[in-house]
Amino acid sequence: MNELYITEISLKERRNGYPFSIPAIGSLGVLELTAPVTFFTGANGSGKSTLLEAIAVAWGFNAEGGSRNMSFSTYDSHSPLYNSLRLAKGPYRPKDGFFLRAESYYNVASHIEELDAQPAFAPMIKMAYGGSLHEKSHGESFAALLNERLGGMGLYLFDEPEAALSIDTQLVALARIRELAEERSQFIIATHSPILLAYPGAEILSFDGGKIKPVAYEDTDIYRVYKYFLNNRERMLAELGF
Ligand SMILES: Nc1ncnc2c1ncn2[C@@H]1O[C@H](COP(=O)(O)OP(=O)(O)O)[C@@H](O)[C@H]1O
Ligand SMILES: [Mg+2]
Repeated sequence: MNELYITEISLKERRNGYPFSIPAIGSLGVLELTAPVTFFTGANGSGKSTLLEAIAVAWGFNAEGGSRNMSFSTYDSHSPLYNSLRLAKGPYRPKDGFFLRAESYYNVASHIEELDAQPAFAPMIKMAYGGSLHEKSHGESFAALLNERLGGMGLYLFDEPEAALSIDTQLVALARIRELAEERSQFIIATHSPILLAYPGAEILSFDGGKIKPVAYEDTDIYRVYKYFLNNRERMLAELGF
């Protein structure tokens, strides 16, 4: 039995204009999620963030990221797609959750500092993240989020978590994602990272060609182009006019 928290994503309705005008979104049928780790891959502008954000908002996360009980907004840019989305839920409810957008992680960090600045009898929220996120590098704060804040049995949605991460940190992240997945967590991750994408047993969904479809690791553009570039660096640079 599929024991994931989100088992299927589909459209309740189709409207005109953005975001249905994005080919991969407009053609969305029933997207079945089959593995604890699902990746969204595809060219810039293919709709990965739009769909991930709509899933997040439909689930109850703040559109800018954070955990489910964080409601703040520094700008209101999310698309109305979440209204048209149907999420089929599995038999269990997660005990933890986080929506990470590399673009607005800074705002989540600021929001945590603001909450901690208010008088409260509760422990400082930032201690759950191993201290102030503003006092860490981006890579360090992501590692702290993975290791300290995320506790398993969670639904975790990450948009390009590799932004600003070294290869070492990405490898550490892979191992931590596996630990959390073994503790009954589900991940949906939009990524351009050939390292994250290599997670064994993950389902990779490509947004290229106007339709969302499963693809093997070795058939992704990310794998092919990185591999080709590293093996043929001079030829490729020459093609670019160097
Ligand atoms: N508010 C908006 N109105 C119209 N088009 C938008 C809006 N926001 C984003 N888009 C367009 O939607 C497309 C998909 O964007 P996005 O989901 O961010 O792509 P990805 O994450 O795959 O790079 C892009 O072409 C983008 O320009
Ligand atoms: Mg994006």
